[in-house]
Amino acid sequence: MCGIVAYVGSKPCQQLLIEGLKRLEYRGYDSAGCAVIQNGKLHIVKAVGRVANLEDKLEGIGNFTGTTGMAHTRWATHGGVTEINAHPHTDDKVGIAMIHNGIIENYAALKTYLEEKGHTFKSQTDTEVLAMLIGELYEGDLEKAVQAALREVTGAYAICVICEKEPETLVVARKGSPLIVGVGSGEYIVASDASAIVSHTTQAMTLADYNVVKITPKGFRTSTIHDVPVTPKIEQLELELQEIELGGYQHFMRKEIFEQPKALRNSFRGRFDPKEGRVILGGLADHAKELNKVTRIILTAQGTALHAAMIGQYLFEDLAKIPARAEYASEFRYRNPIIEDGTIVVAVSQSGETADTLAALSEAKDRGALALGVINVVGSSISRETDAGVYLRVGPEIGVASTKAFTGQVAVLTMVALFLGRRRFMSGEQCGELLRALETVPEKIEKILTQDEVIRKITMKYCERENWLFLGRGYNYPTALEGALKLKEISYIHAEGMPAAEMKHGPIALINEGMPAVFIANKGRQYEKVLSNIQEVRARGGHVIAVATEGDEHIRRYAEDVMYVPDIPEPLSPMLTVVPLQLLAYHAAVIRGHDVDKPRNLAKSVTVE
Ligand code: M6R
Repeated sequence: MCGIVAYVGSKPCQQLLIEGLKRLEYRGYDSAGCAVIQNGKLHIVKAVGRVANLEDKLEGIGNFTGTTGMAHTRWATHGGVTEINAHPHTDDKVGIAMIHNGIIENYAALKTYLEEKGHTFKSQTDTEVLAMLIGELYEGDLEKAVQAALREVTGAYAICVICEKEPETLVVARKGSPLIVGVGSGEYIVASDASAIVSHTTQAMTLADYNVVKITPKGFRTSTIHDVPVTPKIEQLELELQEIELGGYQHFMRKEIFEQPKALRNSFRGRFDPKEGRVILGGLADHAKELNKVTRIILTAQGTALHAAMIGQYLFEDLAKIPARAEYASEFRYRNPIIEDGTIVVAVSQSGETADTLAALSEAKDRGALALGVINVVGSSISRETDAGVYLRVGPEIGVASTKAFTGQVAVLTMVALFLGRRRFMSGEQCGELLRALETVPEKIEKILTQDEVIRKITMKYCERENWLFLGRGYNYPTALEGALKLKEISYIHAEGMPAAEMKHGPIALINEGMPAVFIANKGRQYEKVLSNIQEVRARGGHVIAVATEGDEHIRRYAEDVMYVPDIPEPLSPMLTVVPLQLLAYHAAVIRGHDVDKPRNLAKSVTVE
C-alpha cells in the first residue's frame, strides 16, 4: 500500500506535506515524491528510498512556497523501485499530476488505447496510465475529466489530482482504497489515514467508494463518478496525537508491545460482566437471531491476523462447540467455497484494508454468509463491508510488525466465542470463570514485560543463528507460527513455525547446534508431550528456548533458556505466550541493526492481491 497526503488552502504546503508523509511512511517506504503548483507551474520532485531523501532533495532545490500540492510514499506494485516509477505521475498534454494508492486492473488495455492516440509513457506504472487518461479526457474542467476517466477504470484507487490550468483545485476520489478529507478553516488536507491530518484539524469527511471531491480554498463539492451530488458527512476524528507518536520509545513496535495491557483493557471495557457470566457485544446484538442458528464458522485473514484467526478456530470449537475453520483469505476466495445456511464468515484484520481479506469477505457474502468483522481501524473498507462486527479498540498500530493487534484480535475472538457459547450450552458460572481469568490478562502481560532484559539477554545468545524453529501444540501452535513470522519479518532470520508433533515427520532432520528451537511449553493438556518433543531436539544437539509457566522449574532440566509467563486457563494462554516471542523478535532485529518499524520489502497493510 502507499501513503497519500495533499493540501489546498492559503499556506505554503511543502512542509505540511513532508510531515504528513513522515506520519504515513509506515504504509510504504520504497520511494517518495511530491508535486506543488507554484506561480501556475507544476513542480515535481521524487526520490528513491525514505521520505528523508525527498526532504534533502527539496532542501537542495530550495523549498517551494505554493499552496496547492500533494505527496506520496510508495510500496511498489507495478514497476521497480526507481525515481521514474515513484509518484506523482503526469500526463503529456495539460500539466496534470496524480498520486495513487491501489491497482488499476485494466491498465494494460487503457495503455494500448492511449498509445494508439499518440501518448508515450515514461514509467511502468498503472498510475501513469490513469494520469494520462485524465489528461486525454480534459476539456477545461479537472473534476469532469477525473469522473470520466474513473468511469473507464476497473480496480482499486485512492487518487489526488492537480492541474496547472486550475492551480487552486485539487480533485480526489476513492474506490476500495482509503482516503479522508480533513476540513480546516479555508484549508483542506487529504490523506490515506487520520495520522497525517489530526495535527491540523479534527473534522474530517470519509469518502465512500466512487466518490469524487473537488476542493478549492473556498469549499468543496462531493459527487459520484457519474456526477450525482453526494451529501458529505463530516465527523470528528477520534485519534489523539500521542497515539501516533513514539512518546519516548525507540520504536513503534516496542511502544505497541508495551501498550498491550492498556490496549486490552480498552478492548474489554464494558464488554463483559464476570459476576453474571455475561458478554455484551453491541456490534452483534442486532444479529442475535442469526447467531443463534450458526452451524459453522469460517475465519479468514492473512499474516498475523490469520494466526489470531487460527486461535479463534480453537476457541469457537472449544468454548462455543461450533465447527470452525481458519483459512488464508487468498485461498478461500479462489477455491469455490461451500457456504451453507447458518455459515458465518469472520474477517480478521488490523487495517481493515487487506485486499485478499476484503475479497474473501465479499465472496462469502455473495454466497449468502453472514459477514462479521474483527477489525481495528474504524470505518475501514472491510468494516464497511461486514454485516456486523466487534472492533478491537487497541488504538493505531504503526509498526509494520503486528503486535497489539494480535493480542487484541485474540481477545475479541475470545469474547465472541464466549458470547456464542453462552447462547448455546455454556453456564453463567463457566463463562464467569473464564471472564474473570480474561480480566487478568493485562496485568499478567505487565508482569511478562518486566522480563524484557532477561529476554534481550537470551536473544543475544542466539541472534546470530540464521535458522530457527518455533514449536507449539493446540492453542499455542498458531502462537508458534506467529513467533516465527515476527522473527523473520523484522530480523530477516529464517524461521519456521509448526505443530511440535510435526517436527519428527521431517523437520527434525534440520536440528543441529546452529538451529535454536523455541518451544511454547506452558502448562496445559499437552505439556508432557511438548516435554518429549523438547527432549527429541536436545538428544540431537539442538538448543532449546522454552516459554513456560511461572513456577515450572522442572522445565529447566530440558530447556537451556526459559521465558516465563503467568499461569492462565489454556484457551487464554496465547495472549501471554506470544509476548516473549514479540520481545525476542524485537531484540533480534535491534541487535542485528535492522529498521524495526519499517522492515525491508514490506508495508503495513497489503492492499493488492
Ligand atoms: O491489516 P491486516 O491485519 O489485515 O494485515 C494482515 C497482514 O498483512 C499482517 O498481519 C502482516 O502479516 C504483518 N506484517 C505481520 O506482522
